[in-house]
Amino acid sequence: MNISTNYTFTDDELKGKVILVTGANRGFGRAMTLDLAKAGATVIMLGRDLGSLETTYDEVVDAGFVEPILYPLDLEGATPEHYEQLQKDVLDNFGQLDGLIHNAGIIGTMMPIEQYDLKLWYATMQINVNAPFMLTQALIPALNKSDDARILFLSSSVGRHARAYWGAYGVSKFAIEGLSKTLSEELEKTNIKTNSLDPRRMRTKMRQTAYPAENADNNPTPESMSPAIVYLMSKQSSALNGEQLTLALD
Ligand SMILES: NC(=O)c1ccc[n+]([C@@H]2O[C@H](COP(=O)([O-])OP(=O)(O)OC[C@H]3O[C@@H](n4cnc5c(N)ncnc54)[C@H](OP(=O)(O)O)[C@@H]3O)[C@@H](O)[C@H]2O)c1
Repeated sequence: MNISTNYTFTDDELKGKVILVTGANRGFGRAMTLDLAKAGATVIMLGRDLGSLETTYDEVVDAGFVEPILYPLDLEGATPEHYEQLQKDVLDNFGQLDGLIHNAGIIGTMMPIEQYDLKLWYATMQINVNAPFMLTQALIPALNKSDDARILFLSSSVGRHARAYWGAYGVSKFAIEGLSKTLSEELEKTNIKTNSLDPRRMRTKMRQTAYPAENADNNPTPESMSPAIVYLMSKQSSALNGEQLTLALD
């Protein structure tokens, strides 16, 4: 299902909502953090690089949007204990969570499966699949306290149609699609809606790494796509559950 990126919203569209974004420091995560805060949400900005997290935090505050919360955490090394602590911090400070956006990810490398580097395979699976699984598991109780919650998994076209040489990244996105669909069925009778989203091509570091020869200026900026994330966190999208969503290049 296609989702328009041409969504206009007011500054109280997400008022009072608490939304956690992973990889909030740069790329698409930075763009959605700015729009979610602009729409009135308190964003819990999770990322591993404190310097760039603080830079994005300053941008949000300087723009006069709702002040976010910084949550430094490296998803590669994080253990269930870290996620339990995060759940405790969320519940102690906010009493509930309204949105969980699994945006952070790494591209791994372009290589045939036959030769794929084992260490990089494990790292990609840890960051792209195991971390979202553990984070979701820990935060379901907090999401259950919201009367209208969302879990959104950032996916990719290579997680829906296999493409040679995309290796651990493609396989990790297939796993994310499975996790999203399974959760949507298990949580069907709750207030939590779960969907996956292929944002298509965006002008970010990940895209540049995957396609070093292309002219990046031809790709849409993450800022032009992020209004759709506000829509997907708002009550306007409450009918969507268990969907494989794709951002429309409109
Ligand atoms: N760009 C595209 O064209 C495109 C297309 C399809 C799907 N996607 C998906 O969209 C999402 C965002 O992609 P993007 O293009 O914005 O990528 P990006 O520019 O490479 O940003 C990736 C983000 O993930 C974070 N991250 C990576 N490893 C981490 C770790 N161990 N712990 C915590 N954070 C970590 C990065 O933080 P650091 O700054 O610390 O590295 C960064 O904030 C990804 O899930 C990607 O698969 C993107």
